[in-house]
Amino acid sequence: MIFESHAHYDDAQFDNDREELLTSMKENGIETIINVGSDFRGCEKTVELMNKYDFIYGAIGIHPSDIGDLNDDTCRWLEEKSTLEKIVAIGEIGLDYYWDKEEEVQKAQREWFEWQMKLAKMEGLPVIIHSRDAAEDTLKLMKGIHAEEIPGVIHCFSYSKEMAAEYVKMGYYIGIGGVVTFKNAKKVKEVAATVPMERILLETDCPYLAPEPNRGTRNSSLNLPYVAAEIAHIRGITPEEVIEATRRNAQRLFGVKAEKE
Ligand code: NI
Repeated sequence: MIFESHAHYDDAQFDNDREELLTSMKENGIETIINVGSDFRGCEKTVELMNKYDFIYGAIGIHPSDIGDLNDDTCRWLEEKSTLEKIVAIGEIGLDYYWDKEEEVQKAQREWFEWQMKLAKMEGLPVIIHSRDAAEDTLKLMKGIHAEEIPGVIHCFSYSKEMAAEYVKMGYYIGIGGVVTFKNAKKVKEVAATVPMERILLETDCPYLAPEPNRGTRNSSLNLPYVAAEIAHIRGITPEEVIEATRRNAQRLFGVKAEKE
């Protein structure tokens, strides 16, 4: 059974068949799903989804591109909801300099990233980190606040294998998704080959980043077997070994126990 560590089923792209899709997960081998909020509305919907489905857990946090959603009220809401039993992480949070090039905006991203990291530490929760075109600043900020004391995952990892090793050294997990199946994704394939197996998590980031052979279509957790197969191929092990190891890793990081165990 597969542990999906990063999905956005709150997204409007699932409005027409969300219920049907989610009720088909178990029979298709998807055991547990972390639904990850990225803007404030997405966080509210994450809480609704985890209350409705026993196998869905929630991560709440504001993505660097949506920090405009953060104010006194929404910060208080995050503090309050992060104490709920099925909220298992703060995320996704981080830095994204791909869209925001202005220094002032990037500075605000760093401040909110730090505030949300501290929230996670205070609540004793792991973090789900998004970092795009901001490798140096992400690592610098994390070292500055002793992020090695806060467990977490760098999701949809897009940097070099050397950078992955830095994060592993800090105790972090590396999230690998559909991109690893893309023919030209040399860096991600190298990361998948070199990160210790006990540090890899499976994720989709759905509805985005569908793996081959479904690249370009709406993604869902049902595509995770393609990701597991590619990681297995790269490492010379079986897909079952990848699925079982990543499941154990995610259970350990998020403190989620499987049913009947
Ligand atoms: Ni995401």
